[in-house]
Parts: sequence; structure tokens; C-alpha cells
Amino acid sequence: MTNNLKEKNIVLCVCGGIAAYKSAALLRLLIKAEAKVRVIMTQNAKAFVGPLTFEALSGQPVCTSLFDDREEGAIRHIEWANQADAVVIAPATANVIGKLANGIADDALTTFMLAVTCPKILCPSMNTIMYENRAMQRNLDILEADGYKLLAPGEGELACGTYGAGRLPEPADIADRLAHTLSPKDFKGKQILITAGPTLEPLDPVRFISNHSSGKMGYAIAGAGEYRGAEVILISGPTALPSPAGVRKIDVKTAREMADAVFEHMDKAHIIIKVAAVADYRPHETAVQKIKKNTDDMIVSMKKNIDILKEAGQRKKNQILVGFAAETQDLDKNAQKKLREKNLDMIAGNLVGDPSSGFGTDTNKVTLYFSDGSKEELQLMEKKSVADILLDRILKMVAENG
Ligand code: CTP
Repeated sequence: MTNNLKEKNIVLCVCGGIAAYKSAALLRLLIKAEAKVRVIMTQNAKAFVGPLTFEALSGQPVCTSLFDDREEGAIRHIEWANQADAVVIAPATANVIGKLANGIADDALTTFMLAVTCPKILCPSMNTIMYENRAMQRNLDILEADGYKLLAPGEGELACGTYGAGRLPEPADIADRLAHTLSPKDFKGKQILITAGPTLEPLDPVRFISNHSSGKMGYAIAGAGEYRGAEVILISGPTALPSPAGVRKIDVKTAREMADAVFEHMDKAHIIIKVAAVADYRPHETAVQKIKKNTDDMIVSMKKNIDILKEAGQRKKNQILVGFAAETQDLDKNAQKKLREKNLDMIAGNLVGDPSSGFGTDTNKVTLYFSDGSKEELQLMEKKSVADILLDRILKMVAENG
């Protein structure tokens, strides 16, 4: 996966809250990702974590005052603001939020923020009642309207002993949000329709026929597409996965529901990626009541479901259509046959059965087959990385398509 933080100038602003200790962990993550980080602290923050901690971790002097005797602080805040690719305020306290919402600049941090023009991420962290206070919410609305990206606090047990919203998000989530903010938006203006997960074909009110698809590959592509600026619609069968942030998710159960959703939304999409493991057959009839075990044998008569991808291949206009093929043998032959017969631009094939690749795993070993007859064998890698490579190849096809 591309490391969007590498070589980027980040300014980490730390305010005086108990969560300031988490900022040190955040700083470590950013440094590990090879970002160049400078830290600005309020006077109150110094009461929670010493500047020396941040100085040692960042390898740079920490700014705590406009009137620093080591360097010309009053000028430094303008220089840092000009050089920054992104700024993150974590934790952001009620006091600093109130000042920023009103343009008050009475210390190094708030003065610096007035000079910043790059993306700014604000991570409020405080007691739940303070967070829910109307003045606080009003201030957050103002800052959001001013262009700050808010990272909402998590819910949980707070340092003051209460339970509720107010916890600083985990350092990894803040770093992820920063990386997101800095990622190239090469899919801006593109709409991607993705299907993922299994479909589920009911036998009776309590039983169904389905498959082992976890949805991880499709969700990874949906997340990566959103990350890169696409407008993503994810049509998903039942999975245990959280919805990727910023993605419009449409939940379906059966192949027929999935087909209806795909055909309703496919016209507007520039790119259609069908990762879902659609059940090829459904029971002829779904019993209204629970089926009783009155006989030794049971025969279920099945009817073929619509091949959604094949139908999409017939309907597609100037759109990129991508399929997936999970095979147990003859990968090349089977994948290329599906590519041709379903009128696809690309198909991603993988052999299921390998414990590191396929259903339920976080990694996948995929071979990409293209409509010009060429193929590209990818190494075993994280599904997130497969998603990015897939999108890279799609972007190339979009460019060639005009
Ligand atoms: N697919 C679909 N509708 C179906 C079956 C499959 O849209 N009823 C799509 C899948 O989403 C996937 C591709 O077709 O992108 C290949 O699915 P796969 O199950 O591997 O192949 P099938 O076409 O169903 O053929 P077979 O089961 O005979 O291998």
C-alpha cells in the first residue's frame, strides 16, 4: 500500500488534556511512517507530558511559546504553517476549540492555527457532559464550517470515571485519517459500484443456502476507492464487517435483491466491480413455516439465479466492468472463459483452498486477466494492497477509454 505519510510535513498540536499521553503514541506512528513531524504544545499540555518526550520522539525542537529563546518563535509559527502538509490537533480541549472557533490567538498553538491553510484535523477529547454542552457543539459546527475535519471522539470509560463520548480516538485511527487526508484523490469525480459478500437464499424462515464469502475483498476495494476520492456504492450481502467510512452501503440478502440493486444503480457508475459470491441457485420454493424433519431424506429442488455480472456485461455502455473468479482448479482457463463470456474488461482470479488466500483471510493471491489477453500474476499480499493495485489498473483502463 502507498504510504501517504512518507516525507510529509505534519504539525501535531497537543493541548492540555489527560489524553495528551496518547499523542506521544501518535507521534511514534507518524515517525515510523517516515513523516516529518513538528510538535506545538500549549502551556497546559506541558502539565501532562513533558516537551522532552515529544522532542526525543520527533527529533525536532518542540514549540511551546511564541517567545521561545532558542529560535525566533514569533516567526517560526508562520514558517511551520507554510511548510505543513497537514495539521492535527490531538487532543483538542474545550478551551482551545472555543478559542479557535472565535479566532483568538493568545499562545503559540492558536496563533499558529490562524496561519494554517493546509488540511486541519481536530480530535476533541473531554468529559462527556462538556463535549455535549451546547456551546461546545456550536463551536465544533463553526470549525467544521471553517474547513476543519472533525474526528469524533470515541465512547468508553473516561479518565474522570464516567462513561460516554469523549475519548480521544486510538492513535492508529488518527494516523489513518491523516493518511486518508493526504492520499492522492485520483478517483475524484468517479462513481464506483461494488458488490461484496455472499448472497443468502432462504429455504424456510430459519434456514438458508449460502457460501463462505466474508466480504473482506469487496470491502477493501470499497474503502480504497473512497480513500482515493471516488463516490462508492457498496451493495453487500450479509457480512460481519463494519461499513467502510464514507461509502454508501446498500444491504441485500438474496441474489435477486442484489440484481435489483445493481441494475438500479449501474447506469450512473463509471466502474462496476463484482466481488460478491452470488449463489448460483435458489430453492424453487421458500417454505412459509419451518420445515419439520418428518422424512429420512430431503431433496431440495433448485432454480438458477440470474448471472448479474453477465447481464451487466450485456447492458454496459462506456463503463469498466470487473469480475472476480474464485476457482478450485484450472484458474487460467476458467477465469479467461468468464472474462470473455461475461464481456468484462478485467477479471481477478484466485484459487480457493489455500489457507492464506481466499474466503475469510486478510490476504489474497490474485491473478489479473485483461480483455486484451494479457495477465498479471500478483504476489500473496494484504487484501488492502490487492485493492489498491486493482484500482491502479482500472484507472489506467479509464484513461485509455477516454
Ligand atoms: N456472478 C454474478 N451472478 C451470479 C454468479 C456470479 O454476478 N449469479 C459474478 C460474481 O460476482 C463474480 C463472477 O460472476 O464476479 C464469477 O463468479 P463465480 O461464482 O466464480 O462464477 P460463476 O459465473 O458463478 O460460474 P461457476 O460457478 O460455474 O464457476
